[in-house]
Amino acid sequence: MKEQLKQVTHVENIRYDKEREELVIIDQTLLPGEERFLTLTTAEEMYDAIRSLKVRGAPAIGICAAYSLYTLARQIQAREPRDFLQQLQEQAAYLNSARPTAVNLSWALKEMLKTAEVRLALPREALLEALYHKAVEIHEDDIAKCRAISEYGLTLVKDGDGILTHCNAGPLATSRYGTALGPILLGTERGMRFRVFSDETRPLLQGARLTSYELYRAGVDVTLICDNMASIVMKNGWVQACFVGCDRVAANGDTANKIGTSGVAILAQYYGIPFYVLGPTSTIDMNCPDGSRIPIEQRDPGEIKEMWYEKPVALSGVPCYNPAFDVTDHRLISGIVTEKGICRAPYTESLRALFDNK
Ligand code: MRU
Repeated sequence: MKEQLKQVTHVENIRYDKEREELVIIDQTLLPGEERFLTLTTAEEMYDAIRSLKVRGAPAIGICAAYSLYTLARQIQAREPRDFLQQLQEQAAYLNSARPTAVNLSWALKEMLKTAEVRLALPREALLEALYHKAVEIHEDDIAKCRAISEYGLTLVKDGDGILTHCNAGPLATSRYGTALGPILLGTERGMRFRVFSDETRPLLQGARLTSYELYRAGVDVTLICDNMASIVMKNGWVQACFVGCDRVAANGDTANKIGTSGVAILAQYYGIPFYVLGPTSTIDMNCPDGSRIPIEQRDPGEIKEMWYEKPVALSGVPCYNPAFDVTDHRLISGIVTEKGICRAPYTESLRALFDNK
């Protein structure tokens, strides 16, 4: 069991090979059928990897963006520090436009730009070195944060519990343990048994393709269900807690996560099941007062009508509405689990306290 778990928690979804100066990611769109690694060299390849979900999951997007910006910084030829910074800012803005909802993307890019801004006077090699170390720090911090979130999350469940999750907030979406899947993987490592229900997560099937893949390979008792089956498994009494990840948490606790998450939270409240959001503080956007201000990404209708089928499942003229995320009202959330502890309502106060007591 431990060996299997190791395999999963050490899948290198993002790796920077310093000797070869190469950024390598696993192409998540091909999983679980194929494990193919891609080297990202140009800004267009990086943008496309994020946009097309080859790399996905809020923290993973941030980590990839940080290494991407370092890689692009190495390609900048400008001699004048001002010109260097301007080109770096342009590349950051381009990468940032790949996906709007997960705040980790802009957060990581801002961290990288700040690092460059205060070191502009340094010789080029020293500046690049600082950018590399910042990207590594963002990556390593996420590993530590996921571990701490997993520990806190584990206090919310007991051996034998049924847990329902939506989308994928495991090692592939983060680093190592993941956020929503972290307590499950950590508990399993310690000999606990959980029964996990993984929503398939239409339309891009992250639950079927990635969550069930990660949990199954780790030896966790995972059952895949269609999204519209969450109600019946809750009604059957098989679910004691819901664990989901997050793409952006507003200052009042409203939380954007994969489309369908808010429906799970509404069901959970109806059945009296606690609903927990798990994520690092880098996913909390204190500048965003509430969920109505979170930008929601709209995606191609082809993802609904064509992507997984031999033939389109609807007439080509039929319009589709394809928001990639929805916002769960903070009143439906039993707790927000961060690396600094578990926040409870009122979230305006408990989330603020996370940043006040640095
Ligand atoms: O569109 P995706 O696959 O990037 O959406 C991912 C999610 O909604 C995850 O739940 C979220 O990013 C948290 S990952 C720890």
